[in-house]
Amino acid sequence: MRDITESTITDAVLESFGSTGDARLKQLMQSLVTHLHGFVREVEPTTAEWMAAIRFLTRTGQICDDRRQEFILLSDTLGVSVLVDLINHRMPIGATDTTVLGPFYVDNPPGYPLGADIAEGMTGKPMYCDGRVLTAAGEPIPGALVDVWQCDGDGHYDIQLGGGKLGLRARLVADEQGRFAFWSVVPSHYPIPEDGPVGEMLGATGRHPYRPAHVHFMISHPGHETLVTHIFLDGSPYLESDTVFDVKTSLVTRVAHHDAGTAPDGKRMDRPWGRLHYDFGLKSTAGDPPVATPARELTGARA
Ligand code: BEZ
Ligand code: FE
Repeated sequence: MRDITESTITDAVLESFGSTGDARLKQLMQSLVTHLHGFVREVEPTTAEWMAAIRFLTRTGQICDDRRQEFILLSDTLGVSVLVDLINHRMPIGATDTTVLGPFYVDNPPGYPLGADIAEGMTGKPMYCDGRVLTAAGEPIPGALVDVWQCDGDGHYDIQLGGGKLGLRARLVADEQGRFAFWSVVPSHYPIPEDGPVGEMLGATGRHPYRPAHVHFMISHPGHETLVTHIFLDGSPYLESDTVFDVKTSLVTRVAHHDAGTAPDGKRMDRPWGRLHYDFGLKSTAGDPPVATPARELTGARA
């Protein structure tokens, strides 16, 4: 393998992986090389540009720690996370669309009883959030675990505020009819972390860092695929330009705004409050028939 030229280098590298024992690894490496060489041939980077790219990726790794994962944020903002999610979650009719997890999930969130206020003093207009966990066929799933996390009315997650206090995150257990409910606050739209290389990339390319207002859910129960999703608030800014490309129409839901009065759980509210209602459908691990993308318009909120 000598005297490699511009026209023989790609085949030479592909051949170097030719005897990889693991067929999938061989496919991954050869496809990566094919596309990476194709990119380089197309854009013909200068050496300075290539070194700038290496430095960008180096800084992306250097800013990562147990709590900051800049590579995932890069994958999110390049649309790769959503593409991988879509490929891996081709859902049957009746199953809720999935989304990316995002960086603000905390393992084993604090447990609360149904109907509890999970705000823990975080700011915002009170919001009663309720719904049901169902099979794709519409049957209730009693005892489903419902993890929920969201930002406050100023766009901050608890773990961004420092001080170690958790708020606006909870684990609930659905009742016998698959119902769940909690009090939180109406979340705001917010910028993704932009003090690192990803923020630089967004700034340099004239992109904004915002996500529309949403509430995150992770819902699990034996016999069903764990559902990771968000409910987006209708009318929020950035629904049409989410910086991580993850808004699905089926997940956009209106918050009904109410004046002071009696809430659905009988609570007397002395100030205005909102209600967000959504029923989720879980995909069975036994396998419901997959549905091609165009038919997915049929899925979504049952509320
Ligand atoms: C989030 O919604 O929490 C999120 C998702 C992807 C990137 C950054 C934030
Ligand atoms: Fe979020």
